[in-house]
Amino acid sequence: MITTCIFDAYGTLFDVSAAAREAAAQEGQEYWAPKWSALAEAWRLKQLQYTWLRAVTGDHCSFWDVTKDGLDWAMASQGLDDPELRERLLALYWELSAYREVPAMLAQLKALGKNTGILSNGSPDMLEGAVDSAVIGEWLDAVLSVESVGVFKPARVVYDLVGQRFDCGPENVLFVSSNGWDAAAAAAYGFTTAWVNRGGDPMDNLPGKPQHVLSDLSSIPELVR
Ligand code: LAC
Repeated sequence: MITTCIFDAYGTLFDVSAAAREAAAQEGQEYWAPKWSALAEAWRLKQLQYTWLRAVTGDHCSFWDVTKDGLDWAMASQGLDDPELRERLLALYWELSAYREVPAMLAQLKALGKNTGILSNGSPDMLEGAVDSAVIGEWLDAVLSVESVGVFKPARVVYDLVGQRFDCGPENVLFVSSNGWDAAAAAAYGFTTAWVNRGGDPMDNLPGKPQHVLSDLSSIPELVR
């Protein structure tokens, strides 16, 4: 029986492309606004690549540092050299919007008596900022960060944090991620897993396969009812 629903943060609960999209919509940003989507994509890709590479080499740093390093690479790739824009984008990353269905979905899980939590690469202060600005803290029992084990996903010790916090086995957990590689790793770990595939991407060719593929988060309560 699923007692515990655990969510990835960035890309799953919080819309990571919102920072570039919102910055591009501000006045005076016309010179780079057409590039916002390419910038957001390159930023996310480099941020994640740096987490995987640092996990392999044991060269851990905070998610905030890989977020800054990824942005610097992405801005260079788009020919953008604008320190003020960099600061604005980084500030917006602390207050990313949650996807529209998130508050009601979490409230329904709590009404069903489920444990709820975040398990994220994000550092505790970043996660606190995102949870506060999305106003979803009242429906979350725990916000778990990789900082307590000093290595990024998909290291297995990260997924161990869920059982340790909620005193449950992997068979009691539904893990939800929009990142195909995170969903694959969580499935291989033994969690029941839902991959939120908003973009209609192909499934990753990795050992674990998610049991559920969803287009958004609204049906999660139905899955665990
Ligand atoms: C996280 C990244 C993977 O929140 O999105 O852990």
